[in-house]
Amino acid sequence: MSQSSHITWHDSEVTKADRQQQNGHKSVVIWFTGLSGSGKSTVSVALEKALFEQGKHSYRLDGDNVRHGLNKNLGFSPEDRKENIRRIGEVSKLLVDAGTIAITAFISPYRQDRDDVRAILEEGEFIEVYTECSVEECEKRDPKGLYEKARSGEIKEFTGISAPYEAPNHPEITINTEQQSVEASVEHILNYLKEKQYI
Ligand code: ADX
Repeated sequence: MSQSSHITWHDSEVTKADRQQQNGHKSVVIWFTGLSGSGKSTVSVALEKALFEQGKHSYRLDGDNVRHGLNKNLGFSPEDRKENIRRIGEVSKLLVDAGTIAITAFISPYRQDRDDVRAILEEGEFIEVYTECSVEECEKRDPKGLYEKARSGEIKEFTGISAPYEAPNHPEITINTEQQSVEASVEHILNYLKEKQYI
């Protein structure tokens, strides 16, 4: 529930469309979702670099980074994850308004939370990228040693082990990081963006 009243929206004289025109491409949210260790960060970093090299304006928000600052007061209960995703959604919306391609890499395990972000954006402004990878493979990779800690009980409510992950029903894009290379996943996403005339 909103706690602010007596506030007025102040319009800019520069619109989102003006900014997109100046940049020469549309602005959109590319929302990665998937288990910890599934490859969201890796693919999103490579995507950001590829877009940058093509002269496209993008900015990446990443779970581990945002949790050091904006969301450092949040943990991993369902309520905190919901608030985490809500804030990231609002920041992404601001980036889209600024004419930028927002790339987000959060587990975002709950379908409802992701759909809530989709709902605050305009039609076509939310591209859900399901980063598919089995728990077994993520656990084998365990880049941060967290699965081991989750198994031993040192970390509670760990996604895929002791907390749920709800895969998207109709993601715009699915990449499978057990079968595809990072480069192939980036290519897949870039092709989608070109085909749909975002870039
Ligand atoms: S989300 O569920 O709220 O979307 P987010 O993407 O911000 O999660 O943060 C996930 C990262 O936090 C993981 O990659 C991992 O490094 C770390 N982490 C620490 N505790 C947990 C936990 N209980 N469940 C999942 N990830 C955790």
